Amino acid sequence: MASPSRRNIWWLLVISVGIVMLAALLMAPESLAAQPTPAETAAQGELRDAMLAAPDALRGEDLYAPCGACHGVDGRGVPDGSVPAIAGQHYIVVVKQLVDYRHQRRWDIQMEHAAKMRHLESGQDLADLAAFVAALPRGFSAGKGDGEFLGLGARAYFQRCEGCHGPLGGGQAERGIPRLAGQHYRYLYRQFFDAVEQRRPNMSTLHTELMAPLDRAQILGISDYLSRTSLELTRDAD
Ligand code: HEC
Ligand code: HEC
Repeated sequence: MASPSRRNIWWLLVISVGIVMLAALLMAPESLAAQPTPAETAAQGELRDAMLAAPDALRGEDLYAPCGACHGVDGRGVPDGSVPAIAGQHYIVVVKQLVDYRHQRRWDIQMEHAAKMRHLESGQDLADLAAFVAALPRGFSAGKGDGEFLGLGARAYFQRCEGCHGPLGGGQAERGIPRLAGQHYRYLYRQFFDAVEQRRPNMSTLHTELMAPLDRAQILGISDYLSRTSLELTRDAD
């Protein structure tokens, strides 16, 4: 049993620690308000680690093995659009999408599971995997639309999308803008509806607002146009 005086000292200590903590809270209210959620912090940390890593595409090839079950060993996906082509996607885009699936910033039950597989632990793993995927040649044709709205879609694309995604859908590596060239038609138009119906939380409000005014024919037409462009023609945009 502590003597009464010892007990007083303990209380004094507890109270002074409490006062210091309260003062710290009161002095920094704005930094508290700006605190990102734990999921955001984890996602940002992982993205940063992956960006700082020196990617090893050979190691990435091993990590890719389970991905091939759905995306194909060559990253082609499935022409019916149920699984996207990922071969030749910009490195930074692949990394970001994987991080987003890992932290509930992009929703898809299959990908959330795949991106969290036990063998993918660190930013380095994501970097290696993305380096392998980005270097895969595309060189195959995507599932296409029926051509009905092709002209209409191409016009809408040049007006609203070309500035960022490039005339042929090459995207921009340095700005993290995805390549859309040679992507499967049905996958593309599903992304429009997912974005506009708020099922793609990682897509900015600005982007959703760009898509929202498009009508069905324009959406189908843009998807058709992009499914017919060739990723190989856009390589210069790297
Ligand atoms: C069980 C099937 C399955 C497996 C395994 C799988 N994927 Fe996917 N992947 C999908 C589907 C389906 C989508 C589209 C999901 C959506 O609409 O958001 C997708 C989407 C993606 C995307 C986003 C493509 C884009 O254009 O934005 C990337 C990148 C990706 N997968 C990479 C991988 C990697 C790397 C692995 C291995 C770690 C992997 N996937 C394993 C089915 C799978
Ligand atoms: C201001 C630049 C900008 C403009 C303009 C723009 N995009 Fe995007 N787009 C982006 C960025 C950045 C992303 C990646 C968002 C993310 O991280 O999920 C993206 C993603 C996409 C995706 C998802 C790709 C995938 O594989 O999942 C589609 C589809 C798309 N954009 C289509 C369009 C279309 C169609 C238009 C024109 C109506 C358009 N974008 C206009 C910058 C832009």
